[in-house]
Parts: sequence; structure tokens; C-alpha cells
Amino acid sequence: MIDVIMSPSLLEASLLEQAQVVVLDVLRASSTMVTALANGAVEVRLFDSVEEVTATRAALRATTPRVLAGGERGCVPVPGFDLGNSPAQYRPEVVAGATVLLSTTNGTRAATAAAAAQHLYIGSLLNAQATAEALLPAIDDRHTLFVPAGTDGRASLEDWLGAGAILWYIFGGTYRGDLSFTDTAWMAYHAFAAVKDRLPAALRLGSGGLNLIQAGFEEDIDWCAAINSRPIVAEARRDPLRVVRG
Ligand code: MLT
Repeated sequence: MIDVIMSPSLLEASLLEQAQVVVLDVLRASSTMVTALANGAVEVRLFDSVEEVTATRAALRATTPRVLAGGERGCVPVPGFDLGNSPAQYRPEVVAGATVLLSTTNGTRAATAAAAAQHLYIGSLLNAQATAEALLPAIDDRHTLFVPAGTDGRASLEDWLGAGAILWYIFGGTYRGDLSFTDTAWMAYHAFAAVKDRLPAALRLGSGGLNLIQAGFEEDIDWCAAINSRPIVAEARRDPLRVVRG
């Protein structure tokens, strides 16, 4: 079964253990993680709270040469952190060789909620096709579950478009009519199909895009809309929860 769930709060532990899962926070946490890894970060560790990031940065600084704290609250950078949640900040000269510690309002929390998955990937428009190709080998043997992070428990347009993009490449890569897409998977697929040639405009229409515009981060929307521009697989590992290049 290939499914898109409405909210991370609907995740069931029993299903996660058998599933390959893709968490998406297209604006902007997933796009930031994918950009950081594509630009040479060693790993992106994920945290629910600002306090955990601060404590981990202090603990790691003695042993780890380059540690950077990144993230946002209310879209704006956290005071005292090295970086915000704008993917463009995660340039090669900033992140190459670094361990990034990231905490965001919804995206990193959605990944934490899905941490028990058998395989956990971070998906975005930037790495849509690469993520689809990583999922395909196990598509017949495991549940494939897309988890749009959404905003404060509500669905976000851009995360569904991100899921739809990956589903587009899964279907387009196989043309298999027997792949069991649920109705929500088809909804995401068709939503992406409808706007795939005008993603920057489409991302501006949802509440996530409008929030970023209001907060002064409109150019991040164009960055996050650049489909397949960072063709890497971003795969999570546990204990501690972190994302590395797959
Ligand atoms: C989140 O995790 O809620 C988002 O990444 C928010 C943002 O883009 O600032």
C-alpha cells in the first residue's frame, strides 16, 4: 500500500515498524536538511526543542570540530543559533564537514514522530526523483507512507505537492497500474500534476507560503520549489535521530 496520511499525529507505531516512510516539510525544514547534506554537512541531527539543541551543541563542542545550531520558531531564526531555517544559508562554505543540529516548529517534530519507521527518508521537491528511486526497490514488500508535516496539526499544500512529486516519479518510473495507491496518494499525485509547471506560484498560495512571505522569506519559496535541484537521498538513522546522505 502507498499512502499519504493527513497528519503526523495519525501515525501508528505498529504500521511504522513495517514501513518505509517519507517525512516532508517542503517549506522549509526538509528543503533545509536536503540542502545541508547536498552541500557537504556530515549529518543533520533533529530535535523537538531549542533547549535540546543548545545543550547538545555545548556537549559536542569539546569533541566535534564543527557543530552548527540551526532552526526557527515562528519562521524566524532562534536567538543564539548559528543559522535560521533558510536553505540558502546552508552554503557549502558554511556546512561542509559540519554536524548540523536542527529544530523547527513542525518539520523536525514530524521526523521525530516517525522515527520508529523501518526506513525513514526526508523528502522535498529538491530531491523528489532521487527519493522515488530510493523507495522503488521495496515498493512491493513494504508499506510506503508519506507523512506531510503540515502546520500545527493542519495539512499544508506544499507538503502534499512534495508527496505528489515523489508519487509522480514512482508511477512514471514504473507505469505499473497494480501499484496500490490509496485515494490520498492519488490526491497528492493529481495535485502535483496540476501545478508541476508552476511550482513557485503554487507554493505561494498555501498558508506555509503566505507565512514565509509575511515573515520576509519569500525568496526561500523559489529555492524550495526547484524540483530535483539537489538529487540526493536523505535517510534518517536513530540514536541519536539524524539525517545523512543515503
Ligand atoms: C517548520 O518546521 O514548521 C517549518 O520549517 C517552518 C519554517 O519554514 O520556518
